[in-house]
This record gives sequence, structure tokens and C-alpha cells, in this order.
Amino acid sequence: MFDASTYRSRRRTLIDQECPQSGVVLLLGNQRSPRNYPDNSHPFRQDSTFLYYFGLDRPDLYGLIDLDAGTSTLYGEDGSLEDAIWSGEQPSLRDEAAAAGIESVAPVSELEEVLTTARSDERALHFLSPYRAEHRLRLESLLGIRTEQLDASVSEPLIRAVVRQRSVKTEAEIDQIETAVERTVRLHEYAQRYATPGTPEREILAGMTRLVAAAESAFSFTPTCSVRGEVLHNHSYPNTLAEGDLLLVDAGATSPLHYAGDITRVIPVGGAFSARQRAVYEAVLAAQSAAIEALAPGVPFKEIHLLAARTLTEHLIEIGLMRGDPEAAVDAGAHALFFPHGLGHMMGLDVHDMESLGENYVGYADDQTRSEQFGLHTLRLARPLQPGFVATVEPGCYFIPPLVERWRDERRHASFINYDRVEDFLGLGGVRLEDDVLITKDGARVLGPALPKSPAQVEARAGSAVGA
Ligand code: GLY
Ligand code: MN
Ligand code: MN
Repeated sequence: MFDASTYRSRRRTLIDQECPQSGVVLLLGNQRSPRNYPDNSHPFRQDSTFLYYFGLDRPDLYGLIDLDAGTSTLYGEDGSLEDAIWSGEQPSLRDEAAAAGIESVAPVSELEEVLTTARSDERALHFLSPYRAEHRLRLESLLGIRTEQLDASVSEPLIRAVVRQRSVKTEAEIDQIETAVERTVRLHEYAQRYATPGTPEREILAGMTRLVAAAESAFSFTPTCSVRGEVLHNHSYPNTLAEGDLLLVDAGATSPLHYAGDITRVIPVGGAFSARQRAVYEAVLAAQSAAIEALAPGVPFKEIHLLAARTLTEHLIEIGLMRGDPEAAVDAGAHALFFPHGLGHMMGLDVHDMESLGENYVGYADDQTRSEQFGLHTLRLARPLQPGFVATVEPGCYFIPPLVERWRDERRHASFINYDRVEDFLGLGGVRLEDDVLITKDGARVLGPALPKSPAQVEARAGSAVGA
């Protein structure tokens, strides 16, 4: 945990500055999530907003903040003797609460009474969007709101307040993210060193899993480790690496306090890019470099996304995959055949930070409307940047057979896309380069230790541990 004053001051800021509303804020901690029966659960992960304000990392807790009285209360139960026997002795809830600066602790039955009174007094009840079924059921019973009405009843002022607070990272949070990114770099170094022809994808994943476990860390999301890098969230690992493949690894580790890292690298299996692979790799690298260079406070991330798209398009024109004016091609959305996702997202306690609160609240300013254009529609972060934001910068270029087939049949953007040339690149897979950046007062800083990225560096690193 951070020290008690951190959590106290986060709650104080919420009460005094960020959520100047009346009523009570109810934050739900997570329960254990059973895999197949209650005693056999997935590793516990606390709700991130609960963790942010209340700091306690154990299941079955509720936090209540009274915005009028200015008080915070933690609701939960002490572990039973049975719990001590099966799971080991736990500190008392009161001691844990004190470590998070919470003086008031009560059993859950009292929460039910307090909420019943608040409802009969017609006080405003502020809660966030539930993303787990258990939370929906709990909110229904605690607040008397039917589950189908819950989404319409979430508190927009609370969402906006939480987003404002969690978006700007403090020094202590940045330290945590640096640790997460450093651990993430170690995963990628492993993958780069051990990616050799004949190695199963699963073996690379297994090595990264060992590093995560040995560091008492966790993956911040399900990793992609695949020679089929054109499948954007590829979570299967059935292939064996062959000379000439491109292995795309998108993986991240967490810090001790659960902050995330999220990096993507691509490795030429066998140690040498083909001419086509190198051209595509350099196009993505140029797009990422231009984007990182342009990051600064006040600049809308949407502009950075479009800059990356234009830079990529210029290179794709040189390669012969596209043609015409790059700016016009990007305006039309033609580049999205190759780059169908957004340039990046906020990162913090969640790898896609605060996504459960609503992507547009997190990533878009009030005067920005999310585009419906294919590709741009998945841009999660568009708003002007501020010092203290942490985000990813992750352009990519993919050759996705069903997408190419569909667009080619429709002759979509045929004036900008050279479909005959695209056919030659099918089978190349995908290239994405992703790093994590902190927006500073006058620019941006890439977080974590350096990780090979230039074509020469990744060629030199590819498979270097084997036979060395
Ligand atoms: N790792 C998922 C992403 O890059 O957003
Ligand atoms: Mn990623
Ligand atoms: Mn990412």
C-alpha cells in the first residue's frame, strides 16, 4: 500500500474538489471470482477505483463516502477461524483500514441500514458502472434498483470526478508504473532472446510466465505471443516459430500495487527481416517515432493518432501498398485497412485505464465527438494531453485476410489502395510497436529501461540466448 495519507488525501480531494455534490458515494470492492466452484477461484483482483480510494486488497469490502459529512467508512467482516485455518491468519479489518487512513469500520449489515436510511431520506446515491454480474446483483439488493435500470442510474458526476483524479498520476504512482514497465521490459527481453526457429509459442509464453511469477507480479492482461500478429488480441499459442516468421509479443506485467505496463515488440525469427518485413517494420517505427516526438501537453491525442496514420501511409505509398495523397487517404480512412485500431489508451491501475467507467469519459473531451469512421471508431484516447497522463503509443500495420478480402470485393478506397500489391503481403502477419509514455510539462518521456526496437537491434537480439 501507499501510506495512509495518500488514501486520506485522495478521498478528501474527491469530497472537497472533485465531486462537489450532495449524497453518498458507494464503492464496491470485488469478490473472489469462482472458476468452477466457489473455493476454486481465479486469482483475486481488487476493483481499481476501490483500490485507489480505499487501498485494501482483499475481497468482500465496501467503501462509503459521505459527501456531506465528509466521512469515509469501510464495511466488511474480519476473517473467521475457518478462514484462518484454510487461508492463514489475516490482520484485523480495523488494522488494515487504519493503514489506509480509514477510522470508521463497520459490518456489512450496517451498510444495508445506512443505505436504507439514505434512500428514505432521498439522498443522492452515487455509484459507478458495474462490470461484474455480482456487483449488479449487490447493487440491486443494496439500492433497490433493478439490474436493467442500473446502467441508466450510474452517477455521471462521480464518474467524471474519478476520471479527473485518476487520470493525473502522482510521483508515487509513476514510480509504480516505472516498476511495472521495467518488469514488462524483462518479459520482452526474454522473448527476444529465446525466439528461435523450432521454439513453440507456448515455450516463450511459459518463460515470460515464470518471470512474472518469480517477480510476484502478474500479467496486466492476457498476452499475445504469436506469429499471427494480424489477429489483434490473439490469445492462442498453437504455433511453432519458423525461420522467417515475425513473432509479435504484446505483454505487460503489474507493479506491487497493481499498476500496469503494456509493451509490444516484433521479433524476426531466425534473426533477419525479409525486405518486405523490414519495410513494414520501418513504416510502423517511423509512425511511432513521429507520434512520440509530437506528444506534449495541450495536444489532442487524436491529432497524434492522425499524424501516426499519415506517417504510416507515406511509407505504405513508398512500399507500393497505397497511392495518392497521404492526407486525403487518411481523411478518407483508407489506411485503416492496415491500421484498424487507435494509437493508444490511458494506462494506470488498469491497462486500459478506467475503461469500466466508460471509454468516452476517459478518452474524449466534452467538445469531442467520437468518430464513426472504421478505424477511428476504436480510438480510445482523443482528448488534449495533460502533464501526469500516462498513455500507450502503439501504431501497427497488419495484413488481415478477411478484411482485405472484404474491402477488395467492395473496391473500397480503391483509389488509395493497391490491392494487387497487398495480396503479395498476405501471410506477413502484423507489426505493432508499443511503448508507455508519461506526459511531462514540456513533452513526454518513454517509461522504463530501453528495450531493443531498431531493426538492427532486434535482429541482433533475436534468439541470441540460444547456443550462446
Ligand atoms: N495489450 C492490449 C493493448 O495493447 O491495448
Ligand atoms: Mn499492448
Ligand atoms: Mn496497449
